[in-house]
Amino acid sequence: MKALDIDIKLIEQFVAGDSVDNFQDEIKKHHESIIQKTGKGNDFLGWVDLPAEISGDLLQDIEETATALRSKTDYLVVVGIGGSYLGAKAVIEALKDSFDDFKSGGTKVLYAGQNLSEDYMAELMNFLSDKEYGICVISKSGTTTEPAVAFRILKNHLEHKVGKEEARKRIIAITDKERGALKVLANQEGYKTYIVPDDVGGRYSVLTPVGLFPIAVSGFDIRALVEGAKAMRSRCLASPDLKQNPAAVYAAARNALYQKGFEIELLINFSPRLMYFTEWWKQLYGESEGKEHKGIFPAGANFTTDLHSMGQYIQEGRRVLFETLISVENPRHELSIPEDEQNLDGLNYLAGKRIEYVNEMAEKGTVLAHIDGGVPNIKIRIPQIDAYNLGQMIYFFELACAYSGYILGVNPFDQPGVEAYKKNMFALLRKPGFEKESEEIYRRL
Ligand code: PA5
Repeated sequence: MKALDIDIKLIEQFVAGDSVDNFQDEIKKHHESIIQKTGKGNDFLGWVDLPAEISGDLLQDIEETATALRSKTDYLVVVGIGGSYLGAKAVIEALKDSFDDFKSGGTKVLYAGQNLSEDYMAELMNFLSDKEYGICVISKSGTTTEPAVAFRILKNHLEHKVGKEEARKRIIAITDKERGALKVLANQEGYKTYIVPDDVGGRYSVLTPVGLFPIAVSGFDIRALVEGAKAMRSRCLASPDLKQNPAAVYAAARNALYQKGFEIELLINFSPRLMYFTEWWKQLYGESEGKEHKGIFPAGANFTTDLHSMGQYIQEGRRVLFETLISVENPRHELSIPEDEQNLDGLNYLAGKRIEYVNEMAEKGTVLAHIDGGVPNIKIRIPQIDAYNLGQMIYFFELACAYSGYILGVNPFDQPGVEAYKKNMFALLRKPGFEKESEEIYRRL
């Protein structure tokens, strides 16, 4: 299989000649501490070995449960937020046909519990009222408010629609092995349950049942996904050498840029299939690095679409941006531009050329324009968007994120800042146990 590769020559004019190589010793140290599990957050390093350690039995169980659910449902509602849904959505959106939602056949995945919008939930319930559906509720902690609210509504709806017995067969819970309200509920109701390993945090959990089950229900090849991750793992863990380890190169390059004042990273694609991959990546890097008032701000843009909205800022706005481009060599389909006798649109110079050729020239032209405008560019090249290459990219970005977080000096595996809004929300909602905070917060309003 052709591998992912990384090209950093287009950052060279923005950072001193040896500034990427200067990270070599540090990367070597962090590489060791990841393998030896001695660094910050070392109790959350289960993702490092996941692709190699996932058992054939678990994969088979996931596939069989997914097939059984597919045989009786048209929709699966994945209930979860943050790392409990973004990985699955990133992979499913990247692999599915762009117009799959409007075609019949297969089980389509919908999402709930990823927001608190009453309109979203009401419209979802309206939609589901005459549909055959199942639910996969995912929460590692088992106590997160957004999915808990959505699941209560969905569970109630499904039980009224198909009866408690049948609902029980259509609900899959993915949670901690022993803690949390969801575990208690799943045990009591007798739901089929998968475990989120203790040592794998939400945003690193796509290669556990958290990601694999919804992806399997969508009909995609979870074994190829795991194989891709496994290949990337072997390649990167073999050596911390910047000449051999692409994740190390990426971590070193983005930190070299950060030290030069490039504080915002845009993950760029020229294929709308990758839009949600960017959302997954944003969470991975934002939650892992953004702490202690440090960290590269992860943002994204989808080209050429966003060249007509964000393009102006990227070209000429504040010079704090760098781009990481995911460049895809081969699209899945072929479509050429037809000849037109009248040529009123003046496009005959492209007649017979594939759309991909035009897209490729847009990509090359954009990269050069942005470089000329002062935006450094890191290029990650993959042969095509398929399960194997997505698996490679998932592991590549996870490992690079760990190196990067350690270079910054933070714990890349916790997310203490996420608690602040929850505390205020619980106080405002007068959740039992938050009486004192309630008094204080209502005084401030
Ligand atoms: O990456 C993380 O740990 C978070 O984004 C969590 O995935 C998210 O907050 C949901 O948590 P839980 O799965 O416990 O409901």
